[in-house]
Amino acid sequence: MTRPAWVEVDLGAVRQNVHAVKDHLTPGTGYLAVVKANAYGHGDVEVSKAALAAGASWLGVILVDEGIRLRDEGIDAPILLLHEPPPDRADDVVSYGLTPSVYTEPGIASLGDAAERASSTLAVHLKVDTGLNRLGVPMDRLEEAAGLLAKEPRLEVQSVFSHFAFADDPGNRFVDTQLERYADALDRLAAAGITSALKHIGNSAAALTRPDAHFDLVRVGIATYGLAPSPALDGIVPLRPALSLKCKIARVARVEAGEGVSYGLRYRLSRPGTIVSLPLGYADGWIRALGGNADVLIGGSRYPAVGTVCMDSFMADVGDSSVEVGDEAVLIGTQGSERIGAEDLAARLNTINYEVVTMLARRLDRVFVD
Ligand SMILES: Cc1ncc(COP(=O)(O)O)c(C=O)c1O
Repeated sequence: MTRPAWVEVDLGAVRQNVHAVKDHLTPGTGYLAVVKANAYGHGDVEVSKAALAAGASWLGVILVDEGIRLRDEGIDAPILLLHEPPPDRADDVVSYGLTPSVYTEPGIASLGDAAERASSTLAVHLKVDTGLNRLGVPMDRLEEAAGLLAKEPRLEVQSVFSHFAFADDPGNRFVDTQLERYADALDRLAAAGITSALKHIGNSAAALTRPDAHFDLVRVGIATYGLAPSPALDGIVPLRPALSLKCKIARVARVEAGEGVSYGLRYRLSRPGTIVSLPLGYADGWIRALGGNADVLIGGSRYPAVGTVCMDSFMADVGDSSVEVGDEAVLIGTQGSERIGAEDLAARLNTINYEVVTMLARRLDRVFVD
């Protein structure tokens, strides 16, 4: 460890989560662990290895460079690029054995050309937009996409897939609408010559609650990390949060009543108190919005974070408790009988647990435990 502020990741929890979700899937459905964005902040290489060891058969990332990092670390499992790669990265896609999503003419043509240059065939996954209106082939251009793919003898359509607009409300009627559009897309693409492709559309929420959306593969992100896609989906399978955020107290000081703390002196002590400084800040993803809006656990007790969050530090008021420089503080995770979940911070920030863990910067060390 190179600094006294770190993200601790329990790889045993990752494995357990993969097992728990897998056990819940329709028999025959494969598990793609979504490890984009440094595995939602958890550490992409280690999480990928743990997920594969627990039975995931695919990994999913967004960036070509995210895929290359995994290959460079010796991971040889299939890696799906969930977004179509930029044309100028097509040669890397082929040479690193990544499996791209495709949905645009330049994307398809560049990958076809790259496969031709390498004299190899390339498996691609055709992404269909069934209503998220983000990426993928629009429903009114499916035949056109099939025509483009038919002109690329080096590209083999391994799957036709889509993505739900709801990750937190799998019972929403629009999920049914998307499933209907997906079925229609599969029929029309089959009529246009794209047959025997794998099918996948499900995210964590669908993996947990929609067996009718399991198909050949589910793409599980947040549940891999032991977090529920939404509070309402907590407890369906036994998930264990893998991530904790910890640091060591950098300074302890007694501060007089009436004094202020941190930039702007926004926090004023109404009585003398002990202010501890914690060595991480907004450059680490402990964002300014958390100023005065989070708790920290020290010695098994909960104390308020106070004052403005700085770039590399923030403070907490421990009152009259006796604490020392070097004592461990838990910002996300468990200490004694107290727990602060990513979802607790998300509620305070009016965001989602996904964002809380993903915003933790690479500048924080990742420490892996089992
Ligand atoms: C295409 C795609 N599939 C699957 C996922 C995983 O979603 P979740 O983390 O809700 O399981 C994501 C995440 O955003 C995604 O973009």
